[in-house]
Amino acid sequence: MSEETDRDTPAWTRAHAAGLQRDDSNVAPVIYPPEERVDDDLHLWDTWFLRNRDGSVAEIDGKRVIFALTSPSDLLPGKRHDVATIRYFYSEDGKEWTTGGAVFEGDALGQRQWAGSAMYDPDGEEGEVYFYYTAAGESGRDELTYTQRIALATGGSVHADGDDLRIDGPWDNRVILTPDGDWYEREDQSRGMIYTFRDPWFFEDPQSGETYLLFEANTPVSEGAGECDGPVWGEFNGSIGIAHSPTGDPTDFELRPPLLDAVCVNQELERPHFVVRDGTYYLFISSHVHTFAPGLEGYDALYGFVADDLRGDYEPLNGHGMVLTNPAGAPFQAYSWLVYDHGDELLATSFFNYYDYDRPSLDDVPLLSPDEQMRRFGGTLAPTVRLSLDGDETDIVGTLDHGHLPLPREELPALWWKQGEATGT
Ligand code: FRU
Repeated sequence: MSEETDRDTPAWTRAHAAGLQRDDSNVAPVIYPPEERVDDDLHLWDTWFLRNRDGSVAEIDGKRVIFALTSPSDLLPGKRHDVATIRYFYSEDGKEWTTGGAVFEGDALGQRQWAGSAMYDPDGEEGEVYFYYTAAGESGRDELTYTQRIALATGGSVHADGDDLRIDGPWDNRVILTPDGDWYEREDQSRGMIYTFRDPWFFEDPQSGETYLLFEANTPVSEGAGECDGPVWGEFNGSIGIAHSPTGDPTDFELRPPLLDAVCVNQELERPHFVVRDGTYYLFISSHVHTFAPGLEGYDALYGFVADDLRGDYEPLNGHGMVLTNPAGAPFQAYSWLVYDHGDELLATSFFNYYDYDRPSLDDVPLLSPDEQMRRFGGTLAPTVRLSLDGDETDIVGTLDHGHLPLPREELPALWWKQGEATGT
């Protein structure tokens, strides 16, 4: 079937999602505050690596670099999205992080910047760093707006000097993608919750060598289109979007039809990204309990889908899609997972969100005193979760410390339940 026909879009269906449930394979251990935060002066949430063009983590003079959305840590955590600023951090051992600073100096697009990805190309025609991000809100407007455009900054360079590392502009910022209204919903078409067109993720397909950008989006569903039995369900219309660069030029992308959508199921398929193993495509997203359509019980969790081709017929991992979630007694303790490959395992990093909080929704957070809101917000990296992957089944097999992000060449501690196997005892 042609990849141009919307009807062919693989779907995360209500029947899949009806099977969602917590079990031993997908519930992470309770998280406690770390002894040390990445940065005491900052709330930190969505995080991503500086990666090479082929997706591997870049190492600059022995250092790995992460980027994160940040705000001052004295701000009420609920307000952080309104002032999000992207900062970079670096580490030699993947355990202790040094704050580099803000990536942009007021020259980025949008009222604030939301998640993205960063590609390091020392031979790049437009500088060493290609920085994809979400330009959120329209600059120049007094009130906060929720328009989202996919932006690219080029011209940045990385300088390492002894223990220090610096990322410098000047950056050339431009909008590279906006929704077309046909495959991807525009702001004026949205009928339910705030629409999405954000979180660009650079991806070079190891099979074909072609260059893509994934992003979070929504499928337009006109009122009364009869797509679902329940009228409001169609207002939950999340999708995983993709754009292709016909020439491989990392600045020049064209929209293509979505890889997957969740019409009648879920409004937000956040921060889509791939792990490709032996020609099998594992597509991961994060989503929230409150973005599932009525009648479905979901979780703040990492979800995944698998196909044997980039544009394959994605099926949810574990039958329903859930890979990793929070315990029932701390349902919002982590969010915004990022999965990367590590030898036999997958590692999932995320941020430490609201803890010591067991209500079923975050709507009650504003009812807490400001001090309590501050106390219960982690605002730093969560413990890294170790996952096993076998075909379309995943399992949590262990955890590492808060913010411990090992590279594939760095050995992980032996798993206690495997130690016997290793020593033959
Ligand atoms: C996920 C997310 C992203 C967005 C950011 C805004 O945590 O909703 O999709 O880029 O947070 O803060």
